Amino acid sequence: MKVTVIGAGNVGATVANVVAQRELANEVVLLDIKEGVAEGKALDIWQTSGINNFDTRVIGVTHDYSRTEASEVVVITSGLPRKPGMSRDDLISTNAEIVKSVTENVILHSPDSILIIVSNPLDVMTYCAYLNSKFPSHRVMGMAGILDTARYRAFIADALDTSPKDIQAMLLGGHGDTMVPLPRYTTVSGIPVTELIDETRLNAIVDRTKKGGGELVALMGTSAWYAPGAAAAQMVEAIVRDQNRILPVCAWLQGEYGLRDLYLGVPAVIGKNGIEKIVELKLNDHEMKMLHDSAGSVKEVMGVLDKLNSKKAFDF
Ligand code: NAI
Ligand code: 2OP
Repeated sequence: MKVTVIGAGNVGATVANVVAQRELANEVVLLDIKEGVAEGKALDIWQTSGINNFDTRVIGVTHDYSRTEASEVVVITSGLPRKPGMSRDDLISTNAEIVKSVTENVILHSPDSILIIVSNPLDVMTYCAYLNSKFPSHRVMGMAGILDTARYRAFIADALDTSPKDIQAMLLGGHGDTMVPLPRYTTVSGIPVTELIDETRLNAIVDRTKKGGGELVALMGTSAWYAPGAAAAQMVEAIVRDQNRILPVCAWLQGEYGLRDLYLGVPAVIGKNGIEKIVELKLNDHEMKMLHDSAGSVKEVMGVLDKLNSKKAFDF
């Protein structure tokens, strides 16, 4: 089993580290365009093998896609991160160019791979990789929902002073301020969260979750990496171990939830073929409206990409 991670920055190096530590592959290839960076980070991770007891070989390369040959899973993290004052959507033209060229290189060497996109703006960069790879949609997905749900679960754990392990939650929509955390589908050891936290406090947690990425950008001057890296690695694990886990991922919708022709966060069964099945929850009117509003925001940003495309900036 071979996993490639494109982009050896904060998120990419973290994904490689988690994949190696958890022995999710025989080999992890980390690739970047900055000379020496991927080699250095891969060597550093590999030198933890004796301490952390793993066998997974970690290899770093500068723009040498031949070393990524026949990867089963490829995680794309290359692109600019957010800086204070920037929205995820501000990154669109720069990151679309990067994701497009990376995808083209990846598919040449790993035509049967499953792609997990992390670069922002997430839903639209996943769309960009889908268009450029021409892979079936079950083999192209984006990482956001696991991260956003993990933030939501962490805030609930703090509010209740309980273990995050006992908190199960679901969250839908785009990776932005319009995301839709679902208190009605949130439980603590089987107990509905609405019985444990009052509405005002729960609303504040939902609101903090929606702005969770921005909170970290404001604190650090750049976006987060530990939780995003762990979240992407969890998707790798579900695929390489064929776990059939139900996870919130960014998936191509063709009529599910009354939505069509866009990438959006929904629960899906993740296994060896990538997205095995999209799960349709029975949403109430309010939840469905919020999901459709979120889809509207994603469609707007998709429109920016499509416009760049029509100006021949991209050859889809
Ligand atoms: P970073 O700046 O630390 O790393 C990005 C890396 O990509 C750099 O090392 C850069 O040299 C490399 N790169 C740029 N162009 C490349 C190319 N053509 N080929 C190969 N490598 C290339 O950024 P960080 O923090 O790792 O974030 C990466 C991306 O992930 C950003 O777009 C960020 O917004 C996004 N992100 C998404 C999250 C999500 O939930 N989906 C969460 C956190 C970050
Ligand atoms: C995050 O949510 C910025 O998308 C990045 O941390």
